[in-house]
Parts: sequence; structure tokens; C-alpha cells
Amino acid sequence: MGKVVAGNWKMHHGPVAAAAFFSRFKPRFAPDSVEILFFPPDLSLAASMETAAVPAGFGVQNIHSAKEGAFTGETSAEMARGAGARFALIGHSERRHVFGEGDAEVSAKAGAAVRAGLIPVVCVGELLGERRAGHLEQVLRRQVGAIVEAVAAASRFMVAYEPVWAIGTGETATPGDAAEAHAIVRSALGELASAPILYGGSVKPGNARSLMSAPDVDGVLVGGASLDPDVFGRIVEAGAAAESVNPVREP
Ligand code: PGA
Repeated sequence: MGKVVAGNWKMHHGPVAAAAFFSRFKPRFAPDSVEILFFPPDLSLAASMETAAVPAGFGVQNIHSAKEGAFTGETSAEMARGAGARFALIGHSERRHVFGEGDAEVSAKAGAAVRAGLIPVVCVGELLGERRAGHLEQVLRRQVGAIVEAVAAASRFMVAYEPVWAIGTGETATPGDAAEAHAIVRSALGELASAPILYGGSVKPGNARSLMSAPDVDGVLVGGASLDPDVFGRIVEAGAAAESVNPVREP
């Protein structure tokens, strides 16, 4: 099974910039070797889907857990699905740490995504202080434990392990760090252990292949380096070249 290479544009690339990105996004990779996903801002979703020339899946970066209601500025999972999204990032570290989402809200959003027919990509990861205090396993088990019930009925879902200290900082986990954390996530997933687990946090063309060749690393979730079509294209190519090592998914 191919690696997943996902781009999270965060609050970058409006509709015009999204179309410009796709006019230049032409990675060289064997069909079926990589699954490419994009998470553009909601307002750029349509322009992205219309202009993408390579096969790719599209998703939203966040949803509200309610179907509809008096929640100014929010978007429901149903609305995202209706607009053509197939995936939803859930519990990204910026949602957790900038917007204050806790495990209960993340779980409610994961459930809402599944009910609307979206594929949740649930993000987990420890703060630097938690890692230094030796709490990596405890934090990951808590965050994964909070969503397993909510996604149990999903036809498909993914986890992204993103150590908070590595996001947007230029600090990257080593392939060994990633493998260690992914093994914890995989074990915490229990019966759902065959879900792809992506690594995120300062992924670049230079480290993407070694990260994706580490045991249990099924792909990457890329922030800053997904904004440039040539740079992101090189990460896609790294995904196509990475060795597949996944003891659970490919025994
Ligand atoms: P980064 O972001 O690649 O810029 O570190 C990753 C993410 O937040 O998903």
C-alpha cells in the first residue's frame, strides 16, 4: 500500500493562490504509489478541486461538531461533505493549543465527521514539556483513547502524530522518534490498528524519505513545505521512493 502525503495549508492560499499552486503542481510519481491529500482553507476548497490536475483527495482543516445552528463562523461536517470534501483534519495541534480544543471536543468532532461520511484524520502529539517529563506514552494513549469509540464505525480513518515541538519550528523528530511514537499510537488504537499513521512536524524534501521509511510511518502531514508546488512535489516523490515498513498493515 502506498504512502499518504498530505498538505495542510493552514490559513494560506486563497482561491486565486490555490489555482496558481495547482497550475504548477506536477510531481513525477507512479500512479498508485502515493495517495496525495490537500487540506486547503474552506474558501479555497472549490478552486482547489477544480484546478488540481493530479489525482488527489481533498479535505477541510476543522469542523464543528453540530450539524447546524447559531455558531457564527463555523462549518459543519455535513456542509464540508456537501462542498465536496472527503477528509477532515480533527484536533490539529493549533486547534488544541491556540483555540483550546480538549479531548472531549476532538472526540465529538471525530464522531460528527464519521456520521457525515468524512474520513477523519485525527491529530495527536505531545508538548515539549510533556516529552521532557517522560509523559510521551501517557499523552498519546490519552489522546488516542479519547477518539477510538468515535471513529469505530468509520469506513476509513487516519491518525497524524505531530509532536507539538516540531510543528513549524524546523525541529524534526528523528525517524527513530517517529517510529517509537507511532508504535505507541498503533498499540493504543487496539482493533483499529490498521489505520494509516502519518508523521507531521517540519517535514521537508530532505527528511521526508527517511521519515517515511521508518517502521510504522505510513505517510506525512506537511504544513509549511506544502505551500510551494515544487517543494511539495518533491515530498510526494519521496513518498513514492520510501520503503514500506508496516508490520501491521503489511505483515
Ligand atoms: P509544519 O506543520 O510542516 O509546518 O511543521 C505541520 C502541521 O502543522 O501539520
